Amino acid sequence: MEDKVCIITGSNDGIGKETAKAMAKHMMKVIMACRNMEKCEAAAKEVRAASKNDDVVCMKLDLNSLQSVREFVQNFKAMNLPLNYLINNAGIWTGTHSTTEDGFETMFGVNHLGHFLLTNLLLDKLEASTNPRIVVVASRSHARANLNINNLSVSAKEYSSTPDYGRSKLCNVMFAYELQRRLDAKGSKIVVNSLHPGVVHTNLFNTFPMLDKVVFPLASLFMTKATESAEASEALALGTAPHLQGVKGKYFSVKDQVESSAFSKKVDIQRQLWEKSCEMINKLLYRINIKDKKGGNDGIGKATAKVIAKQPIKLIIACRNIDKAADAVKEIKEYSNNDDVQCLKLDLGSFQSIREFVESYKQLNIGNVDYLINNAGVYFSDTVLTSDGFESMFGINHLGHFLLTNLLLPLMSDDARIVMVSSLAHQRASLNFDDKHFPPKNNGFVGYGQSKLCNILMANELQRKLDERGSSIVVNSLHPGTVHTSFLKGLKIIDRFLWPIFSRFLTKVEDSGNAVANLALGELLIYKDKKAIYFDLTKPSKSNTFSQQPKNSKELWLKSSALVQCSPEITLNSTTGADVTTTTITIPTTISTTTTTTVSTDSSSPTTPNTTL
Ligand SMILES: NC(=O)c1ccc[n+]([C@@H]2O[C@H](COP(=O)([O-])OP(=O)(O)OC[C@H]3O[C@@H](n4cnc5c(N)ncnc54)[C@H](OP(=O)(O)O)[C@@H]3O)[C@@H](O)[C@H]2O)c1
Repeated sequence: MEDKVCIITGSNDGIGKETAKAMAKHMMKVIMACRNMEKCEAAAKEVRAASKNDDVVCMKLDLNSLQSVREFVQNFKAMNLPLNYLINNAGIWTGTHSTTEDGFETMFGVNHLGHFLLTNLLLDKLEASTNPRIVVVASRSHARANLNINNLSVSAKEYSSTPDYGRSKLCNVMFAYELQRRLDAKGSKIVVNSLHPGVVHTNLFNTFPMLDKVVFPLASLFMTKATESAEASEALALGTAPHLQGVKGKYFSVKDQVESSAFSKKVDIQRQLWEKSCEMINKLLYRINIKDKKGGNDGIGKATAKVIAKQPIKLIIACRNIDKAADAVKEIKEYSNNDDVQCLKLDLGSFQSIREFVESYKQLNIGNVDYLINNAGVYFSDTVLTSDGFESMFGINHLGHFLLTNLLLPLMSDDARIVMVSSLAHQRASLNFDDKHFPPKNNGFVGYGQSKLCNILMANELQRKLDERGSSIVVNSLHPGTVHTSFLKGLKIIDRFLWPIFSRFLTKVEDSGNAVANLALGELLIYKDKKAIYFDLTKPSKSNTFSQQPKNSKELWLKSSALVQCSPEITLNSTTGADVTTTTITIPTTISTTTTTTVSTDSSSPTTPNTTL
């Protein structure tokens, strides 16, 4: 097993340390993923001596911090090793309420959420290895618990030590089931099982003096030994025992396969737990505080650009007013410490300008576009018609982005991501494709709603075309919240008086920026499954009925390609043989190893106000 690699979380003590010894005996590389490096080194020494295997490595992982989880994955991936076994063993049972670095109740945050993120970020590594297997160390205490999906991370007032520990372990069991189902649906070879490791006298109970000092020492004869628990984890990890052949997505009590609680088997709750966990993590993907900006208001585009520029990404902000854009570039650079930010002129109200923008982009010779964020939008525009003669909201918000996207597709990496910033305002809109009514000429709210409906229809049809071509490019749309930006400056009464009064009910621009950036970069949307979805901020939501009818998306696509005079067939990178370097897209945690380019339109919150409704 010399070429095999195993990661065990929380392996410097208790069951985890014994599991490390058991796995190391198979002469594989064992990575002890622990929060306390000193303790971990001492334990590793013990593991090496007991297993006669020197290939035992300590790596820092503090599940109390999502950032630490990301850094661990980044460091592991930089080692270029395979990953065959992941044992999610670490666990904590607190005696009083506390929160993780990211503000979650500690047991929920460490036992479930940290492992949820860790596992998801390691799935690609596991998938690429032989016989990949995941073991989730849960507990029998899950059996008395249930979950309130809207209150997973309890407050100090609601906290109760034993029930909340049980809930965190119930999350472990349900996560294992849901993960296996999702992997199976994708045809993955990864096997996931969860287990109760027995009742073992470890440090887990050291916040409970009565159990720790009185009950357990007396009952020790009848309790499971850490070595027996370790053997159970080892067996589930290796999966070589005859009784484990073909067994996956199951729950074990030490070595025996048993039934977990009835609640844990509720498939709808398993799915909700998954989605809620994604949502909770995504909300915090980039812990930014845009308020420390200098100067004027951020529009959603600039807020998004700031979030994205915090990543090691080449960022291009595409704006029609180059002077304002230059100020925005300066501000984004200062904010993010990313020097790779530049602006290119793009006026979405002019087909000529869009074509010139794409040519300028090619001349930069910086490789593929990995993320395209179609953010620009106008409402009560100062210009009534675009230079090509279309009503400006339809022309800019839809047609401009339609042409831009089509022209950029041949320059996009095969697994690029496209985000259409739509709006809740699409909900009441529909389109009449009769020649008499198309292209639409409505100004005001009706026209705005229609243009935002077009964003969703375009996302749906583009995704269908991409899927048909076997491309991995993913397109999604979103309502970025209702934000007070310069967007409603045309409506002076609302802008000056009503908006400020209702401001506390509005979305904060940093939350919008986070949501848009997330849809582009977020690693936890399990983005290959989340295609052509309409989000309300970070939450998958329902767009209106009109937008859900494929014939409407198709019709809009055909009519739009005629209007911008491009082929209705999409052109992709591989089909054109475009002279661009191929970049490997990875999730943000490992993005530093890739050359990435983000095109964000209208990020300077200038003359063309950003979409906010
Ligand atoms: N013992 C039992 O009877 C029993 C029963 C059912 C289930 N379990 C489960 O078995 C697993 C192992 O528990 P154990 O009994 O061996 O307890 P333990 O001796 O206390 O070991 C727990 C391990 O988790 C680590 N850990 C805690 N918080 C962490 C964090 N934020 N980041 C990284 N690592 C962290 C600990 O690290 P430090 O050393 O730094 O604290 C330790 O290495 C846990 O998931 C537990 O819930 C145990």
